[in-house]
Amino acid sequence: MERLERIRRHQLYKECMDVIDRAEIDRIYCLHNLEHSLDVARIAYILSLEQGLSLNKELIYAMALLHDLGRSVQYRTGENHHQAGGPIARQILMDCGYSEEETRMLVEAVIAHQAPAEDKENPYRTVLYRADKLSRNCYHCQASDTCYWKDAERNHEVRY
Ligand SMILES: [Fe+2]
Repeated sequence: MERLERIRRHQLYKECMDVIDRAEIDRIYCLHNLEHSLDVARIAYILSLEQGLSLNKELIYAMALLHDLGRSVQYRTGENHHQAGGPIARQILMDCGYSEEETRMLVEAVIAHQAPAEDKENPYRTVLYRADKLSRNCYHCQASDTCYWKDAERNHEVRY
């Protein structure tokens, strides 16, 4: 996973993660740290296997590492992190040796991960939204009384 390591060591990736980690230091709700990204990656890969999507494992991990970097912008400017994450993901992917086509698919998934999707043209998009939601243990959350997630979106039990 040489390209993936390039992402993890990319200056912009590190700067965004640093902003997010600092901004969330006292956050009582779900965090958007490295653990979250890796949870999303692993779940997305499981979904890909279970659904017979044959997605590329490295691309799934790249997408998951990048999907919430827009939070670093949102915490500073208020801009929606899904949109804000697009240009950041694009720059990092291109710098790290991903092709134009790979970059296009993953950036599209990052920008669209706010909403559920069944995208036959871009199954990365489909698994990202689902994995992002499944990664959260709402049933074990101390802040659920004030969380903005709608009841229907929450995981009320261990889901697999
Ligand atoms: Fe996320």
